[in-house]
Amino acid sequence: MTQSPSMVQTERDVRMMFSAEQIAERVREMGLEIARDLSGSKPVFVSVLKGACMFQCDLARATPLDVELDFLAVASYGNGKTSSGNVRLIHDLRADIGGRHVVLCEGVVDSGLTLSFLMDMFRVRNPASLRVATLLDKVPCRKIAVPVDYAGWKIGNEFVVGYGMDAAERYRNLPYVGVLQEA
Ligand code: PRP
Repeated sequence: MTQSPSMVQTERDVRMMFSAEQIAERVREMGLEIARDLSGSKPVFVSVLKGACMFQCDLARATPLDVELDFLAVASYGNGKTSSGNVRLIHDLRADIGGRHVVLCEGVVDSGLTLSFLMDMFRVRNPASLRVATLLDKVPCRKIAVPVDYAGWKIGNEFVVGYGMDAAERYRNLPYVGVLQEA
């Protein structure tokens, strides 16, 4: 019998926070909001690999605009659960974002250090506008102020996995977002 990801990975160690249906509905709303704000433009949706990949693709499909996709990757050395702030670019965009409307897509904004690094990097490339969309915003964890234009949900200091987000590379393919239970 073919098993879905949610059946393969039991919920023994993951408590569901947002179901696949809740995510789909919220992402649909966000996609329409972005389309209203950027009406008539051809924005570039940039995702930060790897955690934002599912969100970026679903958000793009929920946005009835002519959207271009691009990707970047950063490395951040921390203790595995928190960012050290030592962020380094390891894969740059292919698109020239000069004069373009950019929507930076994140799965979760935590300390804000990754986003702050990327915003600084992007601003000097002179985009027409730069917006941030994140599925989850861990507001109480912020170490540096960053502008979040679109947030699916604000959450507390919880270690979230699923829908692109991982714990040591596991759980990214869960169709829902859950909280990893401590053993
Ligand atoms: C996560 C997430 C963000 C970053 C946010 O990435 O996808 O990019 O952390 O944390 P911050 O606000 O504290 O900087 P992670 O480093 O886990 O890599 P991944 O996306 O490859 O899972």
